[in-house]
Amino acid sequence: MLSTLEQRILKGVGLLLIVGLAGTVIFLNRLGVNVGYAPTQPILFSHKKHAGDNQIPCMYCHANADKSRHATVPELSVCMNCHSVVKTDSPLIQQVQKAYKENKPIEWIKVHDLPDFVFFNHKRHMAKGIDCATCHGDVKNMDKITQVETLNMGFCVNCHRENKAPTDCYTCHH
Ligand code: HEC
Ligand code: HEC
Ligand code: HEC
Ligand code: HEC
Ligand code: HEC
Repeated sequence: MLSTLEQRILKGVGLLLIVGLAGTVIFLNRLGVNVGYAPTQPILFSHKKHAGDNQIPCMYCHANADKSRHATVPELSVCMNCHSVVKTDSPLIQQVQKAYKENKPIEWIKVHDLPDFVFFNHKRHMAKGIDCATCHGDVKNMDKITQVETLNMGFCVNCHRENKAPTDCYTCHH
């Protein structure tokens, strides 16, 4: 029989190996998906126009951010709250309306994307009053969403240390 200490060490080594391997594979796959990443979306959606110029609150469209793990991107029905009447002469809006009528969701390209072996939870951070901009930058002034923070392990762990939040490996790697 192994002692509890030995079991914990083995578990720790196992985790390191698994996470390390996954990390290497993902690192190789993710070169280029990082700071400055700003893919061209299927429809040019400007956060500056919506959240900036027209001051639409982030939570109007990302209502899940304080309710669940994922902040999620809004469904087209949310767009239609305004765009059944706003700017209907615009070809872009006509594209949005068409997609809505045909029930074909727009396939937004994910910008901030952690590897699957990392656990993240929006709700927990929202509950601590952390501003979206801490991790996503000045979105209100972006015509095109761009990743501005590294979102790497050091980025997460530094803030956890400063705020006495958990830094145990299993917090972020289950
Ligand atoms: C502590 C850092 C942090 C804060 C604060 C934060 N986010 Fe995020 N956000 C992330 C990370 C990390 C991801 C990538 C998650 C993944 O790939 O699993 C992400 C992903 C997203 C996504 C893509 C969909 C999803 O949920 O994966 C949206 C939309 C988003 N965030 C919006 C917001 C909004 C709006 C706020 C403020 C209300 C906010 N975020 C606050 C770190 C943060
Ligand atoms: C609360 C109201 C509101 C919601 C919800 C909304 N919009 Fe808008 N949108 C506006 C306003 C107002 C403008 C005009 C901005 C301007 O021209 O200054 C606009 C402009 C646009 C434009 C630019 C049109 C052009 O030709 O200039 C696009 C594209 C657009 N919205 C897409 C969307 C999409 C996609 C959604 C859903 C994810 C959405 N909007 C949700 C109010 C809204
Ligand atoms: C009118 C609706 C609307 C508002 C208001 C809005 N967003 Fe978004 N958001 C979207 C849509 C649609 C997308 C997907 C298209 C894109 O990435 O440009 C998105 C994407 C994002 C992403 C990137 C998700 C990913 O794939 O990583 C982040 C981060 C984000 N929003 C944060 C915010 C923040 C912060 C605010 C407030 C300052 C905000 N949003 C306000 C509709 C909105
Ligand atoms: C700006 C500071 C800050 C940043 C950046 C940050 N966190 Fe956190 N995080 C916190 C705080 C504070 C808590 C504690 C929340 C609580 O006590 O409920 C927390 C809690 C968590 C939890 C839940 C812990 C539990 O007890 O279940 C996870 C998981 C987590 N963070 C992952 C991440 C990851 C992954 C990143 C990087 C992508 C990250 N965090 C970036 C401040 C931050
Ligand atoms: C607060 C969250 C958090 C904690 C705590 C944490 N990690 Fe990570 N870890 C991450 C994130 C985020 C990444 C992904 C980095 C990227 O995408 O480049 C990561 C990546 C990794 C990788 C892959 C290689 C790399 O550096 O990209 C290894 C190995 C790893 N972590 C081991 C650990 C170990 C061992 C511990 C405990 C001492 C730990 N992590 C604690 C968030 C965390």
